[in-house]
Amino acid sequence: MLEFKAGAREGTVMNRIAKGYSDTEIAAVAQHFAALGQTAAAGRVTPSALADACAACHGTDGMSPGAIPALSGKSAGYIARRMHEFRADVREGTVMNRIAKGYDNDEIAAIAQHLGNQ
Ligand code: HEC
Repeated sequence: MLEFKAGAREGTVMNRIAKGYSDTEIAAVAQHFAALGQTAAAGRVTPSALADACAACHGTDGMSPGAIPALSGKSAGYIARRMHEFRADVREGTVMNRIAKGYDNDEIAAIAQHLGNQ
């Protein structure tokens, strides 16, 4: 985050996003997600909490209001397939390849089940 903010690291949207946060806020957000990772490892994170990480871009319950593709109305199978394709770099994207790499098979399945067909 701090690298995006300083422009030291290139991105399509993250440079813009990171500039909107103070260093203290970035530290707080980083801590929040680090804690989420630990909960996931402990197997206590709910599919709904996992899918919340997608809502920032894809909209609440996948109903994106903007340029980012909506996930609502797509099947769980479709969402899971796309996530696997992004993760394996079989399908190109601007941000999704990076994001998808943060999830294991079980988490992708849980997120897809949660968001699919809403
Ligand atoms: C930083 C913003 C951002 C976040 C967070 C995000 N996405 Fe995406 N997503 C995108 C963008 C932008 C695209 C279009 C492809 C690209 O440019 O990477 C996309 C594309 C997709 C697609 C393909 C849609 C289609 O019809 O082709 C799926 C599926 C998807 N995202 C799922 C997810 C899931 C599941 C999460 C949460 C784990 C998530 N995304 C989090 C920005 C985001």
